[in-house]
Amino acid sequence: MSNRSHRNRGLMSMNAMRRDGTAHSSETIGEEPPEKTAHVVLKTDCIDLLAAIPDGSVQLIVCDPPYNIRLAHWDDRDDYLAWAARWLAEAERVLAPTGNLVLFGGLQYQGEAGSGDLLSLLSHLRVHSGLRLVNLIVWNYPSGMSAQRFFANRHEEIAWFGRTPRYYFDLDAVREPYDEATRATYRKDRRLRPETVEKGRNPTNVWRLPRLNGNARERVGHPTQKPAALIRRIVRALSAPGTVVLDFFAGSAVVTRVAIEEGRHSVCGDAEETLAGYLKAQLAQLPPEGTYPPYGITDSLDPAHPIFTGL
Ligand SMILES: C[S@@+](CC[C@H](N)C(=O)[O-])C[C@H]1O[C@@H](n2cnc3c(N)ncnc32)[C@H](O)[C@@H]1O
Repeated sequence: MSNRSHRNRGLMSMNAMRRDGTAHSSETIGEEPPEKTAHVVLKTDCIDLLAAIPDGSVQLIVCDPPYNIRLAHWDDRDDYLAWAARWLAEAERVLAPTGNLVLFGGLQYQGEAGSGDLLSLLSHLRVHSGLRLVNLIVWNYPSGMSAQRFFANRHEEIAWFGRTPRYYFDLDAVREPYDEATRATYRKDRRLRPETVEKGRNPTNVWRLPRLNGNARERVGHPTQKPAALIRRIVRALSAPGTVVLDFFAGSAVVTRVAIEEGRHSVCGDAEETLAGYLKAQLAQLPPEGTYPPYGITDSLDPAHPIFTGL
């Protein structure tokens, strides 16, 4: 019976939200895939890219910043926190009221070269922004470096912030199916709703997904390329089809590829020349045409483009 009262409390709070006009935003954004998607990919500094994007026009920002740990020449800044404060403020400005920001990082990166790490960015956002932490997601991977002086690290954190309490969230898009035996058992449990049993389980905030190893087929050459499966879960759950996904530290252009496949528009920029070559390699990995809407790619950003006025 405790499950039922739990559910009633959930329903009561949903009803209260509806009364207050804060119904879950996935009830109010269209779910129809667009006829065609538009993608901007350009070599540019993150601050310049953000400055060109209209207020409140972006549904989801995937942000995987440098953390000053000297992984590459772009990963070593003296003014890390002051710099991060600038792109974080701009990120908040461009997000729609239903928008989401996901910030990749690791609490263990205590800025060997300076003051940057996820913890300092989270503290900064708590004090200096209106963004609200919704989940701290633990990305758990099965393999990694060995260690003798501490427990070998097998996870990174992904902090998910909502722009307002009306943030978009489509849980059904990322539920994990139950296996047949579990489904058969749950179907007999009258405390459980049959439609939820068919839809599958909430994947929780601990995601077990492998990192890309050195010779993974989807690797395009970027040293910190994230797996498409990880980006896909974020895109599906935190953005509606036909809305804009932004990545101003685009690296391997994996967000462009996933946005094309998932029927979202995208804007991706990176300061390095290598972006164009990585994009080409990502596009070569797209599944056959017809499994996603046709797409167009440009290297110039027009703030008056209709993709920015959809929200
Ligand atoms: C951690 S990597 C992002 C990797 C990406 N998420 C992926 O999966 O491929 C950070 C990226 O930020 C870029 N970067 C560093 N400083 C930048 C700046 N000022 N403006 C734009 N991009 C910058 C780097 O070139 C690097 O590709």
